[in-house]
Amino acid sequence: MSENSSNRSATAPDGDRRILVTSALPYANGSIHLGHLLEHIQTDIWTRFQRLRGNECYSVCADDAHGTPVMLKAQELNITPEEMVARTRAEHHQDLLDFHVEYDNYYVTHSPENKALCEEIYHRLDNAGYISKHTINQLFDPQKEMFLPDRFVKGTCPSCGAEDQNGDSCDVCGATYAPTEVVNPRSVVSGATPVLKESEHFFFDLPKFEGMLKSWIRSGALQEEMANKLEEWFEEGLQQWDISRDSPYFGFEIPGTTNKFFYVWVDAPVGYMASFQHYCNEHNIDFDSFWKEGSETELYHFIGKDITYFHCLFWPAMLEGAGYRKPTGVNIHGFVTVNGAKMSKSRGTFIKGRTYLDYLNPEYLRYYFAAKLGDGVSDIDLNFTDFAQKVNSDLVGKVVNIASRCAGFITKRFDGTLSDNVLEPELVRDFQNAAPRIAGLYEKRKYHQAIREIMALADRANQFIDANAPWVTIKEEGKEAFTHDVCSLGINLFRLLVVYLKPVLPVLAGKAEAFLNDELTWASLDTVLTGHAINKFKPMMQRVEMEKIDAMIDASKESLAAPEPAVDPNSPLGQDPISDTISFDEFAKVDLRIAKIAHAEHVEKADKLLRLELDLGGETRQVFAGIKSAYSPEALIGKHTVMVANLAPRKMRFGLSEGMVLAAGPGGDELYIMEPHEGAKPGMRVK
Ligand code: 2FM
Ligand code: ZN
Repeated sequence: MSENSSNRSATAPDGDRRILVTSALPYANGSIHLGHLLEHIQTDIWTRFQRLRGNECYSVCADDAHGTPVMLKAQELNITPEEMVARTRAEHHQDLLDFHVEYDNYYVTHSPENKALCEEIYHRLDNAGYISKHTINQLFDPQKEMFLPDRFVKGTCPSCGAEDQNGDSCDVCGATYAPTEVVNPRSVVSGATPVLKESEHFFFDLPKFEGMLKSWIRSGALQEEMANKLEEWFEEGLQQWDISRDSPYFGFEIPGTTNKFFYVWVDAPVGYMASFQHYCNEHNIDFDSFWKEGSETELYHFIGKDITYFHCLFWPAMLEGAGYRKPTGVNIHGFVTVNGAKMSKSRGTFIKGRTYLDYLNPEYLRYYFAAKLGDGVSDIDLNFTDFAQKVNSDLVGKVVNIASRCAGFITKRFDGTLSDNVLEPELVRDFQNAAPRIAGLYEKRKYHQAIREIMALADRANQFIDANAPWVTIKEEGKEAFTHDVCSLGINLFRLLVVYLKPVLPVLAGKAEAFLNDELTWASLDTVLTGHAINKFKPMMQRVEMEKIDAMIDASKESLAAPEPAVDPNSPLGQDPISDTISFDEFAKVDLRIAKIAHAEHVEKADKLLRLELDLGGETRQVFAGIKSAYSPEALIGKHTVMVANLAPRKMRFGLSEGMVLAAGPGGDELYIMEPHEGAKPGMRVK
């Protein structure tokens, strides 16, 4: 597998690497939630690891300030977009700091540095002939006097006639279309009927970069699975990219125009450069050595899989076209699911960072994500029972316990000083010899494997203490020196474990440093503390309490507005009216079967659909189900469900749908698939 960071050996001379790292810029019109935090924590662990190894590593981020949604939200709040963005930026920054995510600069894309860089890049692209202008027809809201982005148009699907569909795709039949094709369109902003209006737009010549992009994606800059995905996009053909938006728009005006602005996705990635430039100016760092073409420094972007297109096609092409270096790597991760399903406001699993912080220690989440994160793009499930169990057993029960079992004896019986003798040098060497392996795993973002290795060492440290039982030997005559050696070795093993965990748990590591009276870097792994004075042990981490998790989920629940009662408001089935009766014969026509979900995957360009392969006990059916809002594919694979097996197959844009899966829900995104009782087998008829 070709991967950016795996080309670098963790044992290669460290300390001479110069690295710049970024995380995707959060939009300035919403709060930081657990989905954002997966990425920021992944980035922060990697950055801290590089610094611990002695590399010169900078990290920057910012709020993504521009675009129509930000502009409209500010209008709603009756404040200027600048004011809203400043507030949100401060809130986001504080949330991240409280999760111990520390960027060298957390900036905002609405900055003078970004404006200047966008203009410069635009001029360079234009001078090189990569910009052209074309007149296009777009839907325009005559009441609001603004052009409408696709997601601000709704109407009837031109393909199947379903009402209230998005301006670019239909959730019912899966068709995708231009907003101009929508039947009975209406503006989401004002409710007015949009009209077609001409406008001149600016286009960036992406197809010109096809050759470069094809070789760049195979340069080791991308995970192989993502490089393969990009190949599919090349097969579909690259298009000219529309980089302009008409006024009113919150953004940067395109030089030489009035009332034309850069599309937010132009200035957002340039915002990475601008945030770093601001930092360089303040700290006297050579910005160019990180961005000039042919630079020897390393540049990594951490992003979610949903924004791959922007980072792996448009962005490297813009950089190349404007004479800048391209990223060394774009590190792509999957989404967060909670308790096996998509984060949901009604279930209380759409958890904001601030709500989490009101109830739980941020290092629990850092550790849990680290224990689950690999280098791939599959979704990461945050299961709260597993979360509590893992943190309690690994961190409290294993790691901190080592120190707490040994520290008291050292303080009370040995004057707070570690022994001069190393009792089992081979055991220490085993801990030290794990360093290149663990470093290699951090480097390649295989944090889950690094954590597994570290916990295996923690088990060995505990076994060593169990086998030598200092609480017994301390009472035995003539065993004083031995007990001193055992406890001192225990504390040294704890120290080595803390070095390994420091990128993940900076606060716990800080407390351990205070206790050990030692500052820990990767180089600390080469030493053992002998004859060294330590401090009194203080508790370093509390156990996770399930009640706190429950309270956090309760606090995150947003009650959904109930639909209008239609028939009987007192009905135990809620406000959904019960349908008219049908005859038994009519019911008997529906062939319901138990099906096992053998495979599930996302469907490209479908907002709501998942593609399922259903095992009916000897026969496999493909079904496109509108359950993406509630489930990640990973959470479904292996589950049993109920399907309508004799529904006439329907031809959809993505392929044939050969049945239908049953799910319940109050409407909207909240959905629950039917699951039969244990023992029901694929193919069984539901009667
Ligand atoms: O998808 C998003 O949340 C965007 N705000 C990410 C921008 S990343 C970069 F390109 F600036
Ligand atoms: Zn449709």
